[in-house]
Amino acid sequence: MSYYKVLGFEQEPFSTSPDPEFFYSSPDHERALTNVLIELRLKRGLSVVLGDVGTGKTTLSRKLIQELKGREDCLFHIVLDPSFEDKQLFIHSLVRNFGILPDSTAPVPSLTFLRESLERFLFQKGVVENKTVILIIDEAQKLDPVSLEVLRLLLNYETNQFKLLQLVLLGQIELLSTIKGIANFFDRISFKTTLNPLGFEEMKELIHFRIRQAGYHSKMDLILEEAFKEIYHYTQGYPRQVTMMCHKALKEMLMRHRFVVDKEIIEDIIASEVKDGWERTGALLQKSSFSS
Ligand SMILES: Nc1ncnc2c1ncn2[C@@H]1O[C@H](COP(=O)(O)OP(=O)(O)O)[C@@H](O)[C@H]1O
Ligand SMILES: [Mg+2]
Repeated sequence: MSYYKVLGFEQEPFSTSPDPEFFYSSPDHERALTNVLIELRLKRGLSVVLGDVGTGKTTLSRKLIQELKGREDCLFHIVLDPSFEDKQLFIHSLVRNFGILPDSTAPVPSLTFLRESLERFLFQKGVVENKTVILIIDEAQKLDPVSLEVLRLLLNYETNQFKLLQLVLLGQIELLSTIKGIANFFDRISFKTTLNPLGFEEMKELIHFRIRQAGYHSKMDLILEEAFKEIYHYTQGYPRQVTMMCHKALKEMLMRHRFVVDKEIIEDIIASEVKDGWERTGALLQKSSFSS
């Protein structure tokens, strides 16, 4: 039997997959999600969400998709890893993924043909059918200058009232300096925000939320305040680190036949990570320089 079932959970509370059902709306996450949805509704073009590794960008993108799925007026595609060898392959992947050309088109059509197909598609969907076409790109810090140039051109497609393609970029902080260096790209950002690590209270709320969400209904606390303090100190409020630590803590608690996670359990986990050389080194992100 899985450890979490023994504890009375229906699901694993601290899995590190970006499951939207376990998305806790911290103020940063909430602001990002609400504003991106507004920008999409207004068809204003480009939104950028920055955040260090493990701050919840991918989870946020899954939540966004969950919101968009139910909407008939939206068409979207998500790129999980935008490393493309050249312009042509990038546009080809967009054309295929939006279903404009069948998957099997070989050889890869010319750049002009691909671009025209995409443009016709955006016009047909956006103007004739009045839909919102959305491209979400995760790991956007991996976009090279050539791919960014493609995106800049796509953002040029517009009517007098709105952009034909809505672009949401989620990426690590270095994306900022890349796009700052591209004329006409940075200016086109209509909404930008940064996901910062959680504060102490937010971290506790995230943990409580995930515990409840996983089906734990007992009134008994699983984690003591003293343990929360240790967790915060060690993880600095980075959601991925918090999630991983809680997972280990609950497992350790069970192995020790205890009913609650106390300070000692967390200290022991940290000590064994330090001993094995697995400890986290330093803060990843200083407080944001890029907020809306
Ligand atoms: N808002 C959130 N609510 C609940 N869990 C979160 C949240 N943000 C991040 N997490 C947890 O942290 C892990 C890492 O988040 P992820 O979205 O992969 O970060 P990033 O893409 O920024 O590196 C997720 O798998 C999830 O378990
Ligand atoms: Mg990610």
